[in-house]
Amino acid sequence: MMGNSFRDPFFRAKLESEVARTPQLTAAIEDKCLTCHAPMARTQALNNGTGSYSLSQAETTVFASDGVSCTLCHQIQKDGLGNDSSFSGNYNIGEERKMFGPYKQVFVNPMINHVDYLPTYGEQVDQPGFCATCHTLFTPIVAEDGHIIGEFPEQTPYLEWLNSSYASSENYRSCQDCHMPRIDERVKISNRPPWYQETQSPFWKHHFTGGNVFILEMLKNNRQRLGSPVPEALFEKTIERTEGRLNQEAAEISVVRVKRDNNRLQVDVRVTNQTGHKFPTGFPSRRAWLHLEATDYQKRQIFESGRYTPVGEIVSLDSTYEPHHTIIDSADQVQIYQSIMGDESGKMTGTLLRAATYLKDNRLPPAGYQRSGPMSSQTGIKGKAATDMNFNVVDNQEGSGTDIVTYDFDLKDARLPLTIRAQLLYQSSSPWFLKNLFKDDTPAVSRFKEMYAAGDNRPMVVDQITYELSD
Ligand code: HEC
Ligand code: HEC
Ligand code: HEC
Ligand code: HEC
Repeated sequence: MMGNSFRDPFFRAKLESEVARTPQLTAAIEDKCLTCHAPMARTQALNNGTGSYSLSQAETTVFASDGVSCTLCHQIQKDGLGNDSSFSGNYNIGEERKMFGPYKQVFVNPMINHVDYLPTYGEQVDQPGFCATCHTLFTPIVAEDGHIIGEFPEQTPYLEWLNSSYASSENYRSCQDCHMPRIDERVKISNRPPWYQETQSPFWKHHFTGGNVFILEMLKNNRQRLGSPVPEALFEKTIERTEGRLNQEAAEISVVRVKRDNNRLQVDVRVTNQTGHKFPTGFPSRRAWLHLEATDYQKRQIFESGRYTPVGEIVSLDSTYEPHHTIIDSADQVQIYQSIMGDESGKMTGTLLRAATYLKDNRLPPAGYQRSGPMSSQTGIKGKAATDMNFNVVDNQEGSGTDIVTYDFDLKDARLPLTIRAQLLYQSSSPWFLKNLFKDDTPAVSRFKEMYAAGDNRPMVVDQITYELSD
């Protein structure tokens, strides 16, 4: 996904849409978005004297279509990493042609001779603050009248991580630890010069998997149209890894209590976040939800919540957005973990630059997350989850990274055994977010709409369980 951050048709559509909605800020918006989505090209252009970088400039260079590439990451300087001033794409690229890496002893000649870069040890590549330069994003809040009235925390995985047990020394796991699988055996990292046999250790595989199967499929299926040189098989490999990640490492569910009271059944489903930040993570179009279905001995349905249509939309949603639930006792309620942005007057919005606040943020916090922990004013729990006594709390202890949803429904004289099936589902591009985007009519929006119509936006299964009730 990082290599395709500029080609990404969803990004391109959203960029044009934001510009269409706030045309007076066109130059500033394009320059800002391209800071992270075409970082190499923009850095080079600014270095060459361009005041601010534009989409039309980016469209002409391979430095843009290469997205977040090797030479960008490996030239990030260590100064200021982790500080506010480094966030929102304020990485600092040096001018001394040094390529920073994790090894203290490096054979430098081939790189000097072939590309005039000096490979150099840089402790920063191993630090979360390194990723935080682009993975912490504050966007300007543009009010109705066009004035900028503040800043909005659009993406904060690094700030969430700081407030997790993974940031503590006992339980330490960095972004790199989870997103770059490590090989501890010695690895021959270069085949040049041919006689060179030295090995290095450890070796970090550049997988960078997240959860975006939907756009990876789109990139794969539209390679020609998007001008991607990447063979289909490589996308397939990344898709496979991403699916594996989602259903093995992202989150899990379990049934923790079942109680039958005459004709009513109560089932408590617990969801546990296993990532190092909120789940779902990052960009506000993500969502995860619980689908639960109970059937009787003849497989007749007794209750269902969270069903979805063939195009991946959840049935019987509330007209604006579904609130957080503690108890679900009607089939038109569904537990959706998501962030919902509101503008300065508190109206729901899908426009990034209009977002002033979160009306809802019940994404599952990472293990260890405390309401009063570091940076919590930027990453708070918003909406009804804030008063849910079992959200991120177990035995009065904060920081469980879990939520318990109680399903309470009528058994309608059903005969046992009963089968309860629960699924945790994930979708990176929520239909509500896309519907809002598709209101605009720009070339990139139309292109994305076509690719979307041909794609498959059904959710990914993160975890599923079946529970049998026989007495
Ligand atoms: C998103 C940032 C990023 C990008 C893009 C990136 N790297 Fe890295 N690379 C890293 C980090 C971080 C490490 C070290 C991890 C650590 O020390 O925890 C690393 C380590 C390395 C190493 C040491 C050996 C190893 O893999 O551990 C080499 C060589 C390397 N990168 C080359 C490349 C090349 C070539 C590319 C482009 C094809 C590239 N990198 C793209 C972040 C990046
Ligand atoms: C304990 C392991 C762990 C740590 C630590 C961790 N992550 Fe993740 N991260 C995951 C898993 C698992 C996923 C896949 C689930 C998902 O997409 O939300 C993920 C997903 C992501 C995504 C993809 C979101 C998407 O929308 O596809 C991003 C971006 C990300 N992590 C960035 C980071 C950054 C930056 C850090 C360090 C501040 C970090 N992660 C630390 C485990 C971790
Ligand atoms: C120069 C900016 C930049 C840096 C530095 C950076 N990233 Fe990213 N990263 C991005 C952008 C932009 C995207 C989104 C691409 C898209 O979806 O179009 C992204 C996406 C991701 C994803 C999502 C993959 C998915 O399937 O959705 C993961 C995981 C991730 N980055 C991890 C990291 C880690 C770990 C580091 C630090 C070692 C890091 N990134 C450093 C800009 C950056
Ligand atoms: C500070 C760096 C940064 C800036 C600036 C930035 N983005 Fe991103 N963007 C990211 C990262 C990182 C991700 C991936 C997060 C994730 O996977 O959840 C992302 C993801 C996205 C996605 C989702 C892509 C997908 O494939 O699902 C869209 C759309 C997007 N950005 C649009 C924009 C627009 C429009 C702008 C300018 C208003 C912008 N971004 C500015 C870092 C940035």
